[in-house]
Amino acid sequence: MKHTLIPVEEFISRRKVFAEQLPDNAVAIIFAGQEVTRSNDTEYLFCQNKSFYYLTGFNEPDAVLVIEKNTTRIISTLFCLPKDPLAEVWHGKRIGSDNAKTEYGFDYAYSLDELTPEIEGIIANKQTLCFCQGQHLDNDARVFSWLELVKVKSRQGISAPVNFINCAPLIDEMRLIKSDAELQIMRKVNAISGRAHQRAMEATQAGVFEYQIEAELLHEFARNGARFAAYNSIVAGGNNANILHYTNNCDELHDGDLLLIDAGGELAGYAADITRTFPINGKFSAPQKALYQLVLDAQLAAIEAIKPGTNLAALNDICHNVLTEGLIALGILKGEFTQLIEDKACKQYFIHGLGHWLGLDVHDVGDYQMENKRQNRTFQPGMVLTIEPGLYIPADDHSVEPQWRGIGIRIEDNILVTDQGHENLTKNAPKSIAEIERVMQSVVASK
Ligand code: GLY
Ligand code: MN
Ligand code: MN
Repeated sequence: MKHTLIPVEEFISRRKVFAEQLPDNAVAIIFAGQEVTRSNDTEYLFCQNKSFYYLTGFNEPDAVLVIEKNTTRIISTLFCLPKDPLAEVWHGKRIGSDNAKTEYGFDYAYSLDELTPEIEGIIANKQTLCFCQGQHLDNDARVFSWLELVKVKSRQGISAPVNFINCAPLIDEMRLIKSDAELQIMRKVNAISGRAHQRAMEATQAGVFEYQIEAELLHEFARNGARFAAYNSIVAGGNNANILHYTNNCDELHDGDLLLIDAGGELAGYAADITRTFPINGKFSAPQKALYQLVLDAQLAAIEAIKPGTNLAALNDICHNVLTEGLIALGILKGEFTQLIEDKACKQYFIHGLGHWLGLDVHDVGDYQMENKRQNRTFQPGMVLTIEPGLYIPADDHSVEPQWRGIGIRIEDNILVTDQGHENLTKNAPKSIAEIERVMQSVVASK
């Protein structure tokens, strides 16, 4: 199905911007994703290769995009699955090369049956060959096999490319800065996912199982058009929250515990990545409240500082300062502030990074460093990142007082860097203690 939320002109323009970065007399080959077997003859739901999707909006498996750059011309050619009435009765409609050309704005489109003979001619006499090296070994092998077909023709005066470029970093950099159309989708998927978090809060009570809350999330995503979760949802009651990528989601929820939910929908390929932590019985205990407010203060301070020109390391420093000061005040860290900062002592409890780029992938592409890796990446308008501080104190951590044990908290929002500063895309998922308790109490009152 054609992308309905991003106009075809934007995909055409992306291919042009990409190609303009290639040297003259170059050809780039970019592969679509493939179906992946789950077991025997069933497949996982198809997920397109996100960089291929970024350049095409084309959502069928096995296709190949070929972009040629000459001094005077840029040519985009798509090879895709052929129309096949029998296969389409079983597996669904295919777009076919004729429709692909007109609806997706390619200069040429052919059936995949024609790939091998055509590609040989396209590669012949090009100087530079570009592909996303190392991402998929089978695809690398296909490229090198096509190269061999051209090389053997040297006696006929045909030359093969001698320069090779990994084109992934070029596409990654483009994907890092989101367009207005992309941001509209990201706002929408955040709104859907935020509502799903509120619905999960409303459905939570002792005796319910984690998978039942997961079902609430998935239903809310899907009924709003975000049919898939962007990643496996983490629904972690009590001490399970101290397993960072807990996805078993099979335990019963208990009175007095917190529930950590890290879940986001995927809409038109774009991910939301939201975490909320809240009390299963609707009311934070005093220790839960103290730790929650500390994580929230750290998150708000980091978000507040987001603007063009700053970077993730600076936000990390802000976050470490808030957490360290708070952990000293609560008696969890002992020692002198400056020394504890120097020792990065809060990392004992804040055991992951502060955030990451977000977009078509949940951990989106784009370099975190610049200037040949010597410098942290400076924020620019159009970047979207998560801010997700946490504190994790496992149940068996006997170095702290019993009241803190078994508490895991993370709070995660999705933030757009704007000209003026930032926009928090995660607007409607309750986050303050008062808001969370109000949402949960109003449900208790209505039961
Ligand atoms: N949901 C994965 C992450 O927060 O990075
Ligand atoms: Mn995240
Ligand atoms: Mn997350």
